[in-house]
Amino acid sequence: MREVYLDNAATMTKIPEAIKVEAEFYELVNANPLRGLYKKSVQAETEVEVCRKKLLKLARADESYTVIFTRGTTEALNLVASGLLRGSDGFGVVSKNSRVVVDIESHHSNILPFKQRYKNVIIAKKMDARELFAAEVISLTGVSNVTGKDFTKRIKKVRKMCPKAILGVDMAQMLCHTSVDLKALKIDFMAFSGHKFGAPMGIGGLVIKKELAEKLRPLFYGGEMVEAVSPEGKPSLAEIPERLEAGTLNIGGIYGLSRAVDFWLSRDILKEALKVSKMKEMAKKRLLKVPGVKVLASNGPILTFQMKDVHPHDVAQVLADSGISVRAGYLCAEPFLRYKGWGPVVRVSFSIFNNLEDVSRLVEAVSSVREKMGVKNVR
Ligand code: ALA
Repeated sequence: MREVYLDNAATMTKIPEAIKVEAEFYELVNANPLRGLYKKSVQAETEVEVCRKKLLKLARADESYTVIFTRGTTEALNLVASGLLRGSDGFGVVSKNSRVVVDIESHHSNILPFKQRYKNVIIAKKMDARELFAAEVISLTGVSNVTGKDFTKRIKKVRKMCPKAILGVDMAQMLCHTSVDLKALKIDFMAFSGHKFGAPMGIGGLVIKKELAEKLRPLFYGGEMVEAVSPEGKPSLAEIPERLEAGTLNIGGIYGLSRAVDFWLSRDILKEALKVSKMKEMAKKRLLKVPGVKVLASNGPILTFQMKDVHPHDVAQVLADSGISVRAGYLCAEPFLRYKGWGPVVRVSFSIFNNLEDVSRLVEAVSSVREKMGVKNVR
């Protein structure tokens, strides 16, 4: 039985070229950048810098931004949350009492890094003047991992309302899924994960205003991020971006990421997104006819639903037994699902690698759930 993979919001099906170049890096290059003067080390270092440039192009960011590589969105947001805190080491710009605003649609990665470090974190529901009042740091969802809703308009509105706040966007579900234009958004940072758009896992980063990156405290200390270390006294730290990238980078991942970015740069992202969304719409139309199915949200590549009298985990299990992979539960966005009064859900998320046969297999499997669970049909 062929697996039908419909959990692309958790991690997208990989772009074949992106994983091929990752493997080739280890076979043919396998050198640590920055540490060596030999050709392969220089080659690896060059790829790192080329990848930074491509990412700036993809995000339509100008020279005022730089790229910091991290393992992904979670690490990038932890770097920001921790690095912004003013300390005796001269880094940071805000205090732990500063007002931080995140949106209710945030997944846990955009809530916990701030909640763990700041005393005054507002989880905004309306994003109005009252909630945004005196906010010093605002970190917003780009596209919801629960509903697929695109918040570009909201981000622009918040920028206008709070011109002085440090404003960032969690783009885990946004980059390469819709049009991203940092020049238009006028934000200070964006966090992303390569694996959400077809690159390997374990590589992502921050695209951040250089001016702000200069003020961030490193999250990790160690090799590659210092210029000089002596037994006594303070080390002299490297310039950005290296200062914020301690240790050996995931170079294989960066090769893969670079190729995935090439892939998206060579395509019309909005057209691709529309094709995926149309496929999902077909699934929605057919699923709405299945007894007991209640569609809660449907935007872009994402369709979120529940089935009357069947727990979402049971729905996902029956689908898994039929070879269909979806995600069920709180989707790492528990505050939002509770706020909506939905509780756990089933989420189906499509990508450019799905097809109409996948839609039919999904509908067929969902149609069998109630009978397999021994639940009576409803009208
Ligand atoms: N945030 C990821 C998801 O939505 C893990 O599945």
